Amino acid sequence: MRAAGLTKEFPSGDGTIVALDGVDLAIAPGEFVSVLGPSGCGKSTMLTIMAGLDAPTGGEVTIGDRPVTGPLLEAGVMFQRDLLLDWRTCEDNVLLQFQMRGLPTAPHRERARELLEMVGMSRFARRFPRELSGGMRQRVALCRALVHRPPLLFMDEPFGALDALTRENLNAELGGLAARAGTSVLFVTHGIDEAAFLADRVVVMSPRPGRIAGEVRIGLPRPRPVDVREDPEFVAHTGRLRRMLAQEGRPAATGEVGADA
Ligand SMILES: Nc1ncnc2c1ncn2[C@@H]1O[C@H](COP(=O)(O)OP(=O)(O)O)[C@@H](O)[C@H]1O
Ligand SMILES: [Mg+2]
Repeated sequence: MRAAGLTKEFPSGDGTIVALDGVDLAIAPGEFVSVLGPSGCGKSTMLTIMAGLDAPTGGEVTIGDRPVTGPLLEAGVMFQRDLLLDWRTCEDNVLLQFQMRGLPTAPHRERARELLEMVGMSRFARRFPRELSGGMRQRVALCRALVHRPPLLFMDEPFGALDALTRENLNAELGGLAARAGTSVLFVTHGIDEAAFLADRVVVMSPRPGRIAGEVRIGLPRPRPVDVREDPEFVAHTGRLRRMLAQEGRPAATGEVGADA
């Protein structure tokens, strides 16, 4: 998948907000790309456009030689809010993926249960989301994003609201599932550690208007063990990303500060 020269302008009271300004980004089959950048730099805008959920003002997104012009049926998406339906059990929330596509759910129940088991949620398959913690709810949302075996996965700060330990556990689960399935992933975060832990390549964006400011290739084999975070090579990568972000987060000439969260 490839984004070329993406720009996005939003109308605003006294003119336009330029959210993206000439973003080029390619994701190879099976590649895991993390996007790191300060709040408001255009990460969500870029992800939304690449997933076909919004149109760019300029530039285009293609998969192979096919232009992306609408929501991608072959994609999985996951956001910071889990968006589970409270009146459906966990299993039926996962199976929603098929119902939304007008497909029968029965042939996929087994697969839904397997996935829930893989993320340690089989005991809760018949329970309702309101009975679950935030981390458990995101596990269900992860299963729902993966149940139809999407070759492409778009994730926008999916673990941003979770405590550090739960987040690490979910990073490990996602890392394993994506690597085993060979899924191409676009993962947006402002967490340096999770960006590097998961990705083959971490792309750093500049503050608005969003541009790609640089990238770091994380050459460690995937999936990675939790303690890769202590590996000197990993530490060197996160250090480099921290410096790149600090550079990008500096107040611009207008006096605007990029990072507000
Ligand atoms: N629908 C919209 N209408 C107007 N402005 C928007 C809209 N969506 C995003 N923006 C603006 O575009 C910029 C980038 O937003 P966003 O992509 O959400 O950033 P990020 O995800 O990196 O925090 C921000 O200044 C935001 O206020
Ligand atoms: Mg965002």
